[in-house]
Amino acid sequence: MPDPYRIWLSEVMLQQTTVATVKDYFARFTARWPDVAALAAAEDADVMAEWAGLGYYARARNLLKCARTVVAEHGSTFPANHDALLKLPGIGPYTAAAISSIAFDLPHAVLDGNVERVMARVYDIHTFLPAAKPELMARAAALTPQDRPGDYAQAVMDLGATICTPKSPACGICPWRDPCLARAEETAAVLPKKTPK
Ligand code: ADE
Repeated sequence: MPDPYRIWLSEVMLQQTTVATVKDYFARFTARWPDVAALAAAEDADVMAEWAGLGYYARARNLLKCARTVVAEHGSTFPANHDALLKLPGIGPYTAAAISSIAFDLPHAVLDGNVERVMARVYDIHTFLPAAKPELMARAAALTPQDRPGDYAQAVMDLGATICTPKSPACGICPWRDPCLARAEETAAVLPKKTPK
């Protein structure tokens, strides 16, 4: 099983920060604090100093709060339960689904920006975001398999990040090229539709 602590830490760091930036921070954090009990025992100032540069400092404060709650209320192990994860500081629907699926292989659908784009294209959904979210979530949930949901969640996120990209998607090499409705309709370039800010 993947280490839930490392999945949690990486998902929190990856909120609004690129994979390229997160890599070194993740390596330093896990070297210094190898498990959730170690992080929970850290000095606040040390954690904030290691976080410097990642931005959104509320995430770092919630990170510590969450680690301390896991130690105090869950015996230093992340709960293998979506609703219990959702109650932890700093863990919202996306992060709870990511930990549930990737760390615990529970069939919860992850819906980040990448997955929203993949769903909008595979099902040729022209509803504007954010109104489209419930429809995209329903599609994402229906596609999530009971067998190896963690590998599936990681795969669909990676598909969105590397093949089903916002600009010039690589439809020719996409494993979903045959069922994809946007490919048939040649609408991938305009999907998902977003209400201008
Ligand atoms: N961004 C946030 N979580 C991710 C994941 N699990 N894989 C790839 N990119 C991500």
